[in-house]
Amino acid sequence: MKQILAINGSPRAHGNTAALLERAALPLREAGYTVEIVQLSKMDLRPCRGCAACVEKGFRCKTQDEIEILLDQMRAADGILLASPIYMWQVSTLLKQVFDRLVSYFHRPDPQLVGKPVFVLSTSAGPFVYRKGIAYMEEIAHHLGMRPAGHLSQLGASPKPVNGKVFGRFLKLVEGSRTDHRPSLKELFNFMLQQGSAMAFLPEDRKYFIEHGWDKGLYYYPCKINFLKRGIMRFVGWAAGKFAGKIVDESAA
Ligand SMILES: Cc1cc2nc3c(=O)[nH]c(=O)nc-3n(C[C@H](O)[C@H](O)[C@H](O)COP(=O)(O)O)c2cc1C
Repeated sequence: MKQILAINGSPRAHGNTAALLERAALPLREAGYTVEIVQLSKMDLRPCRGCAACVEKGFRCKTQDEIEILLDQMRAADGILLASPIYMWQVSTLLKQVFDRLVSYFHRPDPQLVGKPVFVLSTSAGPFVYRKGIAYMEEIAHHLGMRPAGHLSQLGASPKPVNGKVFGRFLKLVEGSRTDHRPSLKELFNFMLQQGSAMAFLPEDRKYFIEHGWDKGLYYYPCKINFLKRGIMRFVGWAAGKFAGKIVDESAA
């Protein structure tokens, strides 16, 4: 049975976002999935202290809290629902705080998170304001090597049932194999960016990419990439290699 982890980034464990996740879990459970809902507000999660030792030296974070428990839950899941209320046009502080703690995985993606399907949810008071928050959660998922596969936003004060059809693409990825994966241009571009900066800048990143066999190739793992996308990405790689040094030199001046 496939396991879905639902992460609620709201500081309110019984608030609107928690209620949306409960509604979202219904069609998934009916379809036979196990859905575990995790309230970040109930976990001991501290902010990043900004030492950057995890990124620059590959050290384990010295902050003693439950971030590793959360990471292990994410690793074990077949798919992730990532939810946040919209606060001041963005995700909650609590969720942002968790993202900050994952900065080393942004540089050196965790192989157990790479390729994991993510579905993003939010609640807000007003319509249309969710876009930046949703786009941000999807962006971070991309940078961690995961695969955003749909989103849903509802007004907190007007709860509606969640139609299971909204999870169509997400569940297809949950059920599918990596070799069936056809990465989007965005996914390929993101990988190339990570690969390029890993090989050019931090020795720690470079070593990690080589160790994982990610220093060459167009994606983290063998998958279907059509001729056109291959061509575009080879060109982007060539152009980035040609101009990256120049851009860095100029911004340092
Ligand atoms: C600090 C704060 C900031 C908020 N900012 C916004 C906002 O920018 N746009 C909006 O539409 N709603 C905003 N809201 C309303 C929440 O997004 C909305 O009530 C949401 O459903 C709350 O979810 P929760 O119960 O899980 O916290 C804000 C609420 C709070 C407490």
